[in-house]
Amino acid sequence: MDIESTLIPVEEVAEAVDGFLAASPAARAWDVETAFDWSRADAGRLTEGQRSAVQFVTLIEDHLPGYFEVYHRYFPVDDSVSREAFVHNRELYHFTVRWALEEDTHARALTRYQESAGIAERSSLRTELAIEGQKPFDLPYDHPVQFFAYALVQEKATQMYYQQLRDVVDDPVLASVLARLSRDEARHFSFMADVVGRYLRVHGDATVEPIRDVIANFRMPLADTMRGYWRWALKIADVASYDHTEAYEHLIKVIDRTVDTRTDRLDELVRFIEECHTLA
Ligand SMILES: [Fe+2]
Ligand SMILES: [Fe+2]
Repeated sequence: MDIESTLIPVEEVAEAVDGFLAASPAARAWDVETAFDWSRADAGRLTEGQRSAVQFVTLIEDHLPGYFEVYHRYFPVDDSVSREAFVHNRELYHFTVRWALEEDTHARALTRYQESAGIAERSSLRTELAIEGQKPFDLPYDHPVQFFAYALVQEKATQMYYQQLRDVVDDPVLASVLARLSRDEARHFSFMADVVGRYLRVHGDATVEPIRDVIANFRMPLADTMRGYWRWALKIADVASYDHTEAYEHLIKVIDRTVDTRTDRLDELVRFIEECHTLA
């Protein structure tokens, strides 16, 4: 199977992108420079585990160049694809660049927080981020729905983590950073949910195996490359739960919302997703 032959029609992706951009007006955008009073940031009010959680999510967000590159690799906007695929990918690109700007802002906000709150010096943090940042990132999928199903789970899991962390931290500056971040992740999730729904409507049962494969092999970004990832993830899960399987029920909701009567294969897929949720 190749990505090009199983794309949804360009009208579908364009509607999803238009919807995302309509839900993200410039007037509601925020920036690192003015949105927070950095002079009041104080990591002294955080527990050791909470500080560690901030360092962890900074590394994850800072890997943006690697994530962004995946879109170019699998949805190229050049002469390596057919005209039809280009037209589709060009529409998707309107989403991708805006999304990337927002994720890059997350990375900068967390870095600025670490610096202002006294967790790290800017120069040493920069070098430390580079160690993970230079490692390759890939999502080796062959059906386009898989990229959106993966991102659906990952964006929702991240949104939930930021909300939970915000609820327990005692530094109001960090709490407001996390509130901004989780609202952005919620919009990113909505876009992914919209696109996955469209794939389900257009391709029906043909999306079952690809989605099943995403869930069966799901790992959060950098889980395969980051030094000490699992130990670290377990440690910060005590602070606020970083359990991506909690996001699975949102994938099931998308399936239910899209499909009136589940086929046997979809039914089986939902049962499988439910099992992965309870097993973890
Ligand atoms: Fe983010
Ligand atoms: Fe996001």
